[in-house]
Amino acid sequence: MPAESTPPQAPYGAPPRADAPRKPVTLHRLRAMREAGEKVTMLTAYDAASASLLDAAGVDCLLVGDSLGMVMQGHASTLPVTLEQMVYHTQCVARGNRSAWLIADLPFGSYQGGVEQAVASSVALMQAGAQMIKLEGGGWTAPLVAALVERGIPVCAHLGLTPQSVHALGGYRIQGRDTQSADTLRRHAAELGAAGAAMLVLELVPSDLAADISADYPGITIGIGAGARTHGQVLVLHDMLDITRGPKPRFVRNFMQGAPSVLDAVRSYVEAVKEGSFPDEAVHGYTA
Ligand code: KIV
Repeated sequence: MPAESTPPQAPYGAPPRADAPRKPVTLHRLRAMREAGEKVTMLTAYDAASASLLDAAGVDCLLVGDSLGMVMQGHASTLPVTLEQMVYHTQCVARGNRSAWLIADLPFGSYQGGVEQAVASSVALMQAGAQMIKLEGGGWTAPLVAALVERGIPVCAHLGLTPQSVHALGGYRIQGRDTQSADTLRRHAAELGAAGAAMLVLELVPSDLAADISADYPGITIGIGAGARTHGQVLVLHDMLDITRGPKPRFVRNFMQGAPSVLDAVRSYVEAVKEGSFPDEAVHGYTA
């Protein structure tokens, strides 16, 4: 082929576009997956290149998580992350993504002030390209969820280990191990479901509790360190690619092991979640 007919190559590793993009993943499609018993896959993405790669690998949902404060910025917690930074990263991910469902975290301090603040912060993330916002906590968050949903903003709630409350929780520890805290989690999940949270992340809770909550939840539950019986799974991209330093939590599998490329590693994550081989409750799950 003559050199002049070769398409120009974009400089600086601009994200490649998938050749044959799949149909965009919608909330309707995600609900149908739940009904059909098909597991939903989610990974974190913080930039255009990884968003494009995850989309091409067939990941259903991309989460612009405030974990970027720890993973990208090197902080010891997610607390220093600002709304401005989340808007910036959401814009980057939206540019690289074509068809995955895009969720962005409301960072600490951007919704604790009440409905008005939560709506304004969510509008900023939606205008940056998010299709759903995620917020942490139960009880006090149910009226916020209802207000956002009423205003046409899809919401993903987050219960169990909620990293923005790390100091109140006394560290990154498993939640809902005793009867009282398990009952509180069940009640909070029921309230969030009734308020209209279409999705619920359950982080670091015993597998049986996550399974019970998932069976009753009207929307889609996504587990991380919550066993295999949620409707889907999420991991922090850098953890499953083994890029992060130090010991990994037990619920993480290194998908780079034996994979010839990052794309292959992400594809095998999607395959493992879809076929039910990840997570393995005996290896990655927790008991009460
Ligand atoms: O911020 C994040 O990445 C998250 C996931 C770990 C669920 O909330």
